[in-house]
Amino acid sequence: MALPQQTQQLQQISTLTPNEIKNIAEVYQQLIDCITEHNHLYYIKAQPIISDNEYDELFAFLQKIEDEYPYLISSNSPSQSLIGQIAERFEKADHTTPLLSLENSYNTKDLLTFDERVQKILNKEGIYDYKYRIEPKYDGISVELIYQKGELTQAITRGDGYTGEDITTNVQTIRNIPKSLKETAETLPWRREMSEGQKGGIPDFLSVRGEIMMAKSTRKELNRQREMQGKEAFANTRNAAAGSIKLLDSGEVAKRGLFCFVYEILQINDDGEKIPLAREEDTKWGEGLLTSLWFQQIQLKKAPTSIQGIQEICLDQKTKEQLSELDFDFDGLVIKVIDETPRTESSNLFEENPESKKNSLRKILGTTNHHPRRAIAYKFPAEQSSTQILSVDFQVGRSGIITPVANLKPIKLSWAEISRVSLHNFDFINSKEIKNHDRVRIQRSGEVIPYITGVIKERRSGNEELIIPPLFCPSCGAPITNIDIHYYCTNPSCPAQLKEKILHFVSKEAMDIQGIGDAMVEILVEQKILRNISDMYTLTNPYIQITLKKFPGFGEKKVSEVASQIEASKKQPLRRVINALWIPNIGKKASQDIANFLTEKGAKNLKEIETILINAEEMQQLYGIGEKTILALQNFFSNPQTKALVEELEKQGVQFSTQQQEKNSHNNKEHFSITGSFPFSREKIREALEKEWYLFDENPTKNTTFILIWEKAGNKRKKAEDYGITIHEWRKEIVNIFPILADLPKEDPKPASQNLQTSLF
Ligand code: IVH
Repeated sequence: MALPQQTQQLQQISTLTPNEIKNIAEVYQQLIDCITEHNHLYYIKAQPIISDNEYDELFAFLQKIEDEYPYLISSNSPSQSLIGQIAERFEKADHTTPLLSLENSYNTKDLLTFDERVQKILNKEGIYDYKYRIEPKYDGISVELIYQKGELTQAITRGDGYTGEDITTNVQTIRNIPKSLKETAETLPWRREMSEGQKGGIPDFLSVRGEIMMAKSTRKELNRQREMQGKEAFANTRNAAAGSIKLLDSGEVAKRGLFCFVYEILQINDDGEKIPLAREEDTKWGEGLLTSLWFQQIQLKKAPTSIQGIQEICLDQKTKEQLSELDFDFDGLVIKVIDETPRTESSNLFEENPESKKNSLRKILGTTNHHPRRAIAYKFPAEQSSTQILSVDFQVGRSGIITPVANLKPIKLSWAEISRVSLHNFDFINSKEIKNHDRVRIQRSGEVIPYITGVIKERRSGNEELIIPPLFCPSCGAPITNIDIHYYCTNPSCPAQLKEKILHFVSKEAMDIQGIGDAMVEILVEQKILRNISDMYTLTNPYIQITLKKFPGFGEKKVSEVASQIEASKKQPLRRVINALWIPNIGKKASQDIANFLTEKGAKNLKEIETILINAEEMQQLYGIGEKTILALQNFFSNPQTKALVEELEKQGVQFSTQQQEKNSHNNKEHFSITGSFPFSREKIREALEKEWYLFDENPTKNTTFILIWEKAGNKRKKAEDYGITIHEWRKEIVNIFPILADLPKEDPKPASQNLQTSLF
């Protein structure tokens, strides 16, 4: 029966209780097949035909049957992931083929050397025409999976490459690993004939190699939980995957939501005997077989190419960027020689023909003691390196906080030049024992800001100096005070603090006064035209404008543009005004909650907040605002300086009225989601809308108000439809509704998602 019909039938049956179903064993088997097919459509094809809700319902039905009829439980059931077997320890197991490692290259010159060697060996055999294929290098845990008669029978960690640990039970919990290989139209040509009892299209023996991975988002969530439990966080996804796959309780492993990507066939045969595969590197057979057997891969959608083409792909920063947009970590690329020996459509792996007698390129190229000569890894440029601290500066932040910053001898880390790195605070300096002029290790992962991981004490010369907190503010000379781990400038009108505060005040998320940048603020503060935030509104004064126009970069046009922006900002909704005040612990979301709460409580003006805060508990309950935040609010608004500032701003015409809040057309609480491939970076779209105070939901939920869809919308569209969420289709309407998106820079003709065949995303 076709899958949609079968699904529909099972959905209907699922409304019954298991004991009302007569042919329960049959239904159970159908359910296993049906869910397995949906897994395949979701994970491998990235084309699910049912919503997540429907999937969950089918899964719940399966579990219900298994609860009532435990004797029916099949090892093929997708629910195996929930079995909680506790291993005493892991048995040792031998690999069917040694799991060699790859030779590493760090620059594209190494790739040429690699190619020269390949060329030399192949030329000797009279082979002149060969090409390379390029794959992502999965940064996970290497594993061998063994299938006998189509059933997953064993999974072994890499260990020393010859013997590893048997982690079969734990691997059974990984959802995107097929537990039972399925015959499909694509796998049928793999076998010429089938003897009785054999599964069509499925090799009798198959061992494959893959990488067990944890998604970046999963590690983040796992670490959050671990930190709450006082456990150490996993430093990266590889450690998290390793720590998870080695847990003794497979029920716990199941909860870790691991994935496995399979990239190589180790052995395959048809008659039970283990023989190495001869032609796996043939694009058509090798790659095709793995995906047609429903193993998941992330493929760079780049055509097989010469070494020059490969060099270009490696050097193209987009390759790494596109991979880093995915929810998994990759530490490089893998380049493999592919066999282009022509094969006819009808030929199959085991057919006797003259071509198959030819030695495969894999065999001709052979291996060194450690590595196969047919492949090489290209490691992404170093993310960790070391350099010397040249000097230490002290920066004054918005609340007067003093941040030590190290000036470094510049180094290149993943393409970017790094010459400064934050030392955060004196606790950090002391715990890492960092001294001025030390040689330090610098790490940069992904797009994260670089940071120091440690000092190389062995490289000390004796000229290193202790880093001592300054006694006076480097910006205004006022005394510095020390509160817990931080040092603060004691002068509330310190120009450095003021600059930060003003920049925040005018930012897009706050009063949105455009045209006032770093350089302008610098001059205005230095020249004492701005001595506090409220002075901003004096810039519209014609007398001050005359002075302004004398400064470089402050032309007639600029000054009048800025003046009209300042004028318009007086009418900003209350939530923006609250955010603009830059209250400790209060960000965009909390500002919104406060404005809403005041409105709900019937307050007319922000100034009533002090009375309202007396009943802060209600606010805590309604908006989940924490005690710390309430305290920060109470402190801030009871401070005479705040009162003076609010009075002054109000005098200048800034609206603190809750009315202003209500009138705003895009009233706040709207949640949105994004799906499909856009000609713009989704991150940019998200940023632009968040600046407009919309709240982003990674996945649509019942709280989501609208979803933006471009093309190739997958699962999320269905989900949105299920929830009845408004769908805005980019082409037709999005730019009209959100003009701000029209200004986003277009990406290259090939958007990221088109360059990658990401079955998952
Ligand atoms: S092929 C005999 N392909 O990288 C060659 N390896 O030292 C087998 N890895 O631990 C390796 N992604 O587990 C290959 N697309 C990929 C890979 C990959 C990650 C791992 C492999 C090994 C290490 C290389």
